[in-house]
Amino acid sequence: MPDSPLSNDLSLSSEQMRDIGYEVIDAIVEQFQSVGKGPAISKRTRRDMHELLHEPVPAAPSDASAVLKRVTDEIFGNFAPLDHPRFFAFVPGPINFISVMAEALAAAHNPFMGSWLVSSGPTQIELTVIDWLRQMCGLPETAGGLFVSGGSIANLSAIAAARHVKLAGDMTGSVIYCSRETHSSIDRAINVLGFKPEQLRHIDTDVGFRVDVDELERAIETDRTAGLRPFMIIANAGTTNTGAIDPLETIADLCQSNDLWFHVDGAYGAPTMLTDKGKTLLAGIERADSITLDPHKWLFQPYEIGCLLLRDRTLLIDTFHIFKDYMQDVIGEAEEVNLRDYGIQLTRNFRALKLWMSIQVFGMDAFRGAVKHGLRMAEFAGELLQSPERKDRWEIITPPDLGIITFRYLPEAMTDEKAIDAFNLKLIDAMYADGYAMVSSTTLHNRPVLRLCPINPRTTEDDIRGTIERFETMADR
Ligand SMILES: Cc1ncc(COP(=O)(O)O)c(C=O)c1O
Repeated sequence: MPDSPLSNDLSLSSEQMRDIGYEVIDAIVEQFQSVGKGPAISKRTRRDMHELLHEPVPAAPSDASAVLKRVTDEIFGNFAPLDHPRFFAFVPGPINFISVMAEALAAAHNPFMGSWLVSSGPTQIELTVIDWLRQMCGLPETAGGLFVSGGSIANLSAIAAARHVKLAGDMTGSVIYCSRETHSSIDRAINVLGFKPEQLRHIDTDVGFRVDVDELERAIETDRTAGLRPFMIIANAGTTNTGAIDPLETIADLCQSNDLWFHVDGAYGAPTMLTDKGKTLLAGIERADSITLDPHKWLFQPYEIGCLLLRDRTLLIDTFHIFKDYMQDVIGEAEEVNLRDYGIQLTRNFRALKLWMSIQVFGMDAFRGAVKHGLRMAEFAGELLQSPERKDRWEIITPPDLGIITFRYLPEAMTDEKAIDAFNLKLIDAMYADGYAMVSSTTLHNRPVLRLCPINPRTTEDDIRGTIERFETMADR
């Protein structure tokens, strides 16, 4: 690579760009090839990182190869790739190479995605991909939406739309309902939007961690009788904790008969609509007024790409459109779509390209197969834990319905629940220190349990078996 440029206009020659670009591509390919070869988790201390990476701002240029080496060694030498095939914690982030290249292309062209005037092609791609996701979720042709940074902003935007449509600007006494298992982004969203915490009712769940619909119905009735204004139910199509799916059809009926906005948080689970199993489990999602869905979770995209779909896309414009005089030149023809009118952001990046390019190159059937594989891996973990030689040592707490299984180890002759809890937490710590796999814990029925989310399409049965066996060896020790 040639010496770093000294130009003040921040430009490079073609040769310099190619040299740097090829080195970057080599680093990316190396990353894809090495993922899974190292530990599934490693963490350094804040002090170590400060010593390594905190420095005065460089006023003078540096050689680009040397800078790239620092990036690969010092920065990415100290992170845990969430697409490691044995990274089973939280929601893993398995990505694909085509989307990474799309990110580079999107950054290079840097389209301004707020306005049709300057981004007709990229805007049409966003509309096209949104329409693919609309079809996947079974929404009517009136539906549309927007790509946002992730599920948190999609949920917030959905509540903003529901508030606009159902409350006409007056939040007094209004109430939103969701289950206790609902993602924390909902609590944050209602706070940001100016609701009081008590305006969000967290309804208890049944044994399967699905919202208790009888209690939900009672709560709505009680609030109405007390003069409050129920206006929205948020249902889960796959909770983060256990993959639980709220009874979507029943909730849709409840919303219909009570004139409530029906939002489905499918940030994690909605992509399973690509599969027959998902379509059966998520039946009723197609009746939603709005759906959150994160391609950066189970559609294998690099961060950040979340998606909000609205049954009636014009309601997004009603909610978010604001006109200022300095925008008068970009109004355009009536049929033109200005995505700035659909959400919170004016300046937006071209998130749709990575999803579009990867679906074009691999084909949707490959994505369907990849999602099916994740569902299967969770089922496989369940089968292993229940196999005759293992079932006395392990207890499954929640079944692997939607790509997540929770379970705990039952040490022989240990009956004290507190001791079993402590033992399981120790197992998590031991695996963390070992680094073979990254498995997180969660708390269910007030007890710590192990949780596996094996949705990476490159996770194999050996990865799952190896992880369970490693836990058993640690337990024996
Ligand atoms: C069900 C659910 N909703 C919302 C979110 C928030 O999504 P994001 O982290 O993309 O903002 C998550 C994240 O894990 C989730 O699992």
